Amino acid sequence: PVFRTPRAPGQGWENDLSRRQPRAAGMVTVILQPAGRCRWDEPVRIAVRGLAPGQPVTLRASLRDEKGALFRAHARYQADAGGLLDLARAPALGGSFVGVEPMGLVWALEPDKRFWRFLEVLDGHEPDAGRLLGRAVHERDFLRPGVRREPVRAGRARGTLFLPPGPGPFPGIIDICGIGGGLLEYRASLLAGHGFATLALAYYDFEDLPKEINSIHLDYFEEALCYMLQHSEVKGPGIGLLGISLGADICLSMASFLKNISATVSINGSGFSAKRGIYYKQTCIPSLGHDFRRLKVAFSGLLDVVDIRNDIVGGHENPSMIPIEKAQGPILFIVGQDDHNWRSELYAQIASERLQAHGKEKPEIISYPGTGHYIEPPYFPLCPASVTKLLNKPIIWGGEPRAHSRAQEDAWKQILTFFCKHLGAIQNIASPKL
Ligand SMILES: *[C@@H]1O[C@H](CO)[C@@H](O)[C@H](O)[C@H]1NC(C)=O
Ligand SMILES: *[C@@H]1O[C@H](CO)[C@@H](O)[C@H](O)[C@H]1NC(C)=O
Repeated sequence: PVFRTPRAPGQGWENDLSRRQPRAAGMVTVILQPAGRCRWDEPVRIAVRGLAPGQPVTLRASLRDEKGALFRAHARYQADAGGLLDLARAPALGGSFVGVEPMGLVWALEPDKRFWRFLEVLDGHEPDAGRLLGRAVHERDFLRPGVRREPVRAGRARGTLFLPPGPGPFPGIIDICGIGGGLLEYRASLLAGHGFATLALAYYDFEDLPKEINSIHLDYFEEALCYMLQHSEVKGPGIGLLGISLGADICLSMASFLKNISATVSINGSGFSAKRGIYYKQTCIPSLGHDFRRLKVAFSGLLDVVDIRNDIVGGHENPSMIPIEKAQGPILFIVGQDDHNWRSELYAQIASERLQAHGKEKPEIISYPGTGHYIEPPYFPLCPASVTKLLNKPIIWGGEPRAHSRAQEDAWKQILTFFCKHLGAIQNIASPKL
């Protein structure tokens, strides 16, 4: 951490901000709380002290990811009559976003090639012309101190297990990513910080796993589940599942066919066997299939795949539907209403009908307006479009940045609460610090 707040021990944030004596020129201070470092899913309070009354300034944030790519965001503000700018109260007057957005400088980050500082304060409202008044570096990490990271190579299963600090056993979660393949650890590492032993599970295009995925075989995922159930630091008798997109449909299939799954969260899952058949022992759920003639071109010129799936003939009785009524534990559906990958909200509705037709309780469906397909942990910038393996071309995912960001904050709290409730987490560790 490069940045230090100039503050005596024991002094709170409010005290710190209310000391508004006139200062010598050049005494502009950027205040970040927590100072230095916090988890990626935690909010940071940002303020600037020592400005002239009503001074127009531009705040510019930039971040370099682990692959070296640079991201930046900026916003124009005006200091108050006391020369203070507090992002929890002051509206942005323009730039990457407008209005009161305390975390806007994080969630509005966009790829850029030019800057490397996290936060800079520039005189005036021209981000590239203003005199630099102050700057601060702020680190946002994914591993809470004490979280242990263990590579998993158990039988065929490949992934990484994150164990919370302190003595176990801990409630366990398996986290399964979407169609991109490989091994993604960011969400699992954050969940471990909230008290869950979390396995980030790869299922193709990683080390010795197949390079392509043409069908889903649940035996592989059952091996990973057994690994978790047998781990001395993972609390049984049931495991939680969290998946997004194709990963969500894998989680729904696991919950339907395998035992010892206590709770399942589907983020933008469809509940159907989509492009690939799903297999378990003698059972096969045939794929619903696509009709590429339904591919649309969006306003941006990018492709929109939202309607390419074949019609769901027979609704919840369609043979391509995953038999979710067999799941033992509850299912939480998180849905983005502007999902352009597929019609998640409609699918969640059909899933709910199917459960009720089989005498099950109505599942919890949380549906967010203006929200796209990729609902990530809080403060992740919206990914509006990217190359999909389905077509090897860029497609739109949907979502409006501000609404999507709000949905991510709320969805994360809902997911943590759901797992705490159904996996019996230790509340003091697991409660979201949001
Ligand atoms: C699976 O669940 C059953 C019933 O709840 C339990 O008796 C069994 O011990 C669990 N298996 C494991 C490996 O935890
Ligand atoms: C999936 O993502 C899309 C946005 O791209 C969203 O509209 C949809 O509601 C999401 N579905 C679920 C179940 O979260």
